[in-house]
Amino acid sequence: MYNLMDGKSLAAEMRIEIKRQAGLFKSRCGKEIGLAVILVGNNQASQVYVRNKIKACEEVGIKSYAYYLPANTAQEEVADLIEELAQNGNVHGILVQLPLPAHLDAEKLLKLIPVQKDVDGFSEENIGKLCMNKNCLAACTPFGVMKILEKYGVQTKGKKAVIVGRSNIVGRPMSMLLLNADATVTICHSKTSDLKSECLDADILVAAIGKAKFITADMVKEGATVIDVGMNRDEQGRLCGDVDFENVKDKCSFITPVPGGVGPMTITMLMYNTVIAANRSVN
Ligand code: GUN
Repeated sequence: MYNLMDGKSLAAEMRIEIKRQAGLFKSRCGKEIGLAVILVGNNQASQVYVRNKIKACEEVGIKSYAYYLPANTAQEEVADLIEELAQNGNVHGILVQLPLPAHLDAEKLLKLIPVQKDVDGFSEENIGKLCMNKNCLAACTPFGVMKILEKYGVQTKGKKAVIVGRSNIVGRPMSMLLLNADATVTICHSKTSDLKSECLDADILVAAIGKAKFITADMVKEGATVIDVGMNRDEQGRLCGDVDFENVKDKCSFITPVPGGVGPMTITMLMYNTVIAANRSVN
């Protein structure tokens, strides 16, 4: 019998605590916690993400500063805005929604966000600190996965964790968080020679590939914990993950559903990171 790991209810539970923390900050510092969100252009998915981030801020009592810039905004203009926000004492977190229009140099722009305000955890400095197991702001999706594991009492110490996918946003930071939690970590990717046998070794299997139902039952060890970071559409156009949930679930001790698993945690962890950034700014 498998246990479903409910990210939606954990996210709701965490948002109550985040709201309490935001209230405490306000009474202590006489101002709200602030998050600046910059969106350049008209990418539809980005517009939805940004709207949801602003909504989450309202829900937890974080003041949002939203900047909607036209698609043809010049590099210097975005750079000036980030530099201004970097200096602004009311802004504790800065987020530049990706992807940026092609004429903008995203790497250069992200470098302008001070490491203490990089609530996405995308900066080289934050990633470097994560690799060295130092205090940092960790990327929201993998950080959310760690919270799910913790909530359900899934042990990581001494366990074999296998991550499928090596992106900068999920796979790589996920591997470091699990390593920092004393797991023995393997990262698999498109050039891995025997993916199935690597996956079959996993006590904790994290799927972050971006291909619908890619992880099948024959790749999962009996009793494993399976975390599905995927967000895809199946042949019928329904939302599904990277794991073939229906066929995999009965082999698992714990498994996250899609939707309702990792997804709801990502924006919640953005709020959580913003609270951490604000508290660190006054300590
Ligand atoms: N685009 C897709 N996901 C993300 C995210 O988590 N943060 C930012 N800044 N852009 C994204």
